[in-house]
Amino acid sequence: MTQDELKALVGQAALAHVVPGELVGVGTGSTVNHFIDALAGMKDRIAGAVSSSDASTARLLAHGIRVLDAAEVTQLPVYIDGADEIDGRGHMVKGGGAALTREKIVADLAERFVCIADASKQVAVLGGFPLPVEVIAMAAPRLVRRFAALGGSATLRLKADGQPLLTDNGHPLLDVRGLQITDPLAMEAEISQWPGVVTCGIFARHRASLCLLGTPAGVQTLVF
Ligand code: A5P
Repeated sequence: MTQDELKALVGQAALAHVVPGELVGVGTGSTVNHFIDALAGMKDRIAGAVSSSDASTARLLAHGIRVLDAAEVTQLPVYIDGADEIDGRGHMVKGGGAALTREKIVADLAERFVCIADASKQVAVLGGFPLPVEVIAMAAPRLVRRFAALGGSATLRLKADGQPLLTDNGHPLLDVRGLQITDPLAMEAEISQWPGVVTCGIFARHRASLCLLGTPAGVQTLVF
């Protein structure tokens, strides 16, 4: 099976975790795109979706799925999203698609985080994937030096035209290479309180409750 077929498999499997009659939190990325396409088949049985990015909102609306603003919602039963890495305790690195801030906001509204990922995302220790960090532009040089002191090499994420990529919130992103994230909760807490950090891409405080992992043998369910 190709990686995309594995993503489609878990996108479909995630439907079993959507609560009929309720809202569902929807993440961002190529795996979630498969989930959104599958969700279209049960759109009349849900109250709607709360989206984590402009891209997911556009896809949900194209399927005729009602989208509510996170600001209108007090609680969600479940949030479904992909990950760039997930460890054996459900801690994740996210933000490869630049949507980490809204992803963390919507995840914070949810009782459960269901991670959908192909098996390549499973790691023993987080940090192989460059850690995305959304920042306030004027703080970027100072934050690059702070990451260097932690042993990381931070670079501004650029678009194909060489200009800084900006998130849906209008902020740049740093990608930090070379970190060994052995204590995700502590590192998330540390980075999150640095002035100028909008959101750190470590999801430890908002770790997955379970992961639907796409493997060539089928969907494996990991409960954390
Ligand atoms: C988006 O910002 C990310 O957090 C995605 O959830 C993550 O990059 C996984 O994306 P794919 O499903 O495309 O691998």
